[in-house]
Order: sequence, then structure tokens, then C-alpha cells
Amino acid sequence: MNALVIGAGRGIGLEFVRQYLEDPAYGKVFATFRQSSKSLTHLAATYPEKLVCLQVDITIEADIQEAIATIKQKTMTLNEVIYAVGVLHDGQMQPEKSLRHIQSENLVSYFQVNAIGAVLWAKYLLPLLRGSNPAIFAVISAKVGSIGDNGLGGWYGYRASKAALNMLLKNVSIEWRRVAPNIIVALLHPGTTDTELSKPFQKNVPEGKLFPPEKTVTLLRTVIDNLTPQDNGEFFSWNGDRLPW
Ligand SMILES: NC(=O)c1ccc[n+]([C@@H]2O[C@H](COP(=O)([O-])OP(=O)(O)OC[C@H]3O[C@@H](n4cnc5c(N)ncnc54)[C@H](OP(=O)(O)O)[C@@H]3O)[C@@H](O)[C@H]2O)c1
Repeated sequence: MNALVIGAGRGIGLEFVRQYLEDPAYGKVFATFRQSSKSLTHLAATYPEKLVCLQVDITIEADIQEAIATIKQKTMTLNEVIYAVGVLHDGQMQPEKSLRHIQSENLVSYFQVNAIGAVLWAKYLLPLLRGSNPAIFAVISAKVGSIGDNGLGGWYGYRASKAALNMLLKNVSIEWRRVAPNIIVALLHPGTTDTELSKPFQKNVPEGKLFPPEKTVTLLRTVIDNLTPQDNGEFFSWNGDRLPW
């Protein structure tokens, strides 16, 4: 099997790469990163035959096209594609606590990274997934992107961009079902995971609910391994439960 992990420089994406590399069931592992990452560079040195690293800023469509072209030179089949890119805060941007924090340029950034990047990849992935078995496009979303589950409010841009991600990928699942019924598209909630993304918000997480990335990825891989064609276009939590849209 071959895998592609998008957003593999750190966090959950990096842990997917680590686990795929240790698993003899996987032949080639393609990993995209934006900023160079010591951890990924170290893995590339340890697994020079198995791991192929590709630099991609997912806000630049030409980067995605170039990465796809490089992958196609090495294989025409991907079995698992993981989209693990996401932003909640960066140097200047913080999740909005209230309407008075809304800034249109921040909303645009949230949508561009959390939602649009994934559908841009989908635009180019069909030839690599259509002949594969299994063929999974697993996109890391977030439970806070569930409109039905939103009881707390806040985090306008992050929540709305994840809801948009869910809708975009639901559409992809419907379009691909017509032309390539072998492909399963799934939206996955990883649970609160100890990465840079969650770091500023960890103090309110109840005991035992902050997962190390190893646990999260092990759980998500179990969800992925149990996916069936009936699950195409659905939204799952880390424990396999379906989440409301
Ligand atoms: N951690 C949690 O508690 C939690 C909970 C729910 C959902 N999630 C979701 O899980 C996914 C992974 O998050 P994480 O916790 O692993 O976060 P993380 O450690 O902060 O990693 C975020 C990843 O996104 C990449 N990225 C951001 N902007 C990018 C861009 N323009 N182009 C390419 N890559 C870009 C980062 O690359 P650089 O290294 O180059 O910045 C990094 O690899 C995200 O979708 C997140 O929303 C996480």
C-alpha cells in the first residue's frame, strides 16, 4: 500500500507518517510539509527508500500540482491520503471569542487553510485513487465544525471553516461515488490532541481527554481500517461514532 500525508511536518500528520513508516504493509509514504521540519528530515534520513518528502504550501495550487506530478512519477496508486493541515492560531491570528474580534482577513485565512486546501488536493487526486483498493481520502476535521453540536459558540473562523470543509468534502464524496465507487471519503475528528494547535487551550481539557499524537493516530487508523463503502462522505469521531453535521 502507498500513503500520502498532507501536512506532515509536525503534529498529527507527522505521527501518521511515523506509524506508516514502521508498518511493513506500506510501500511508499509521501509526506508534504510547508516549513522544513527536523523531525521529518530525520525520518527521511532513516527511511530513504520508503519516505518521499515534498514541500507544499496548500494555499498555492501550483505547489499541489507539482507534488502530484512528482508522486505520479513514482506511483499511480495511493491507498490512503490523509489531509492533516489546519490552523487555529498563528503568530497574529487568535480564535475569536466574540463578534468584536471578527476580522475579515483572518476569516479568509481560516477558510483558505482549513477548507480550501483540502478540496484543491481533491481536484488532483482522482487519478491516483481511482484504481486503488483500498482507496481512502481521510480529512482531519474537528467536532467544533459540527453545526448540530455547537452549544458554546466562539471560534467563529475555525468552526465555520471546518463546517465548510465538511460540506466541500461531502460534495467530493458524491462526485467521486459516480465515477470511482471504490473511493471512500471520510471526515475525522481526532479528539483533543497534544500538539501546537491545542497548546494554548489545554488547561481546560478534562483529565484523560488530552491524547498524545500516538494515541490519536492509532485510534484514527482503526477508524480508517474499518471504513466501508457505506461510510463514504460521513463524519466520524476518533472512537468510530458518527458525528452530526
Ligand atoms: N490538536 C487538536 O486538539 C485538534 C483537535 C481537533 C482537530 N484538529 C485538527 O487536526 C489537524 C492537525 O492538527 P494538529 O493538531 O496536528 O496541528 P499542528 O501541530 O499545529 O499542525 C498543523 C499542520 O498544518 C500545517 N499547515 C498550516 N498551514 C499550512 C499551509 N498553508 N500549507 C501547508 N501546511 C500548512 C502545518 O505546517 P507548518 O509546520 O509548515 O506550519 C502543520 O503541519 C488540523 O486539521 C486540526 O484542525 C486538531
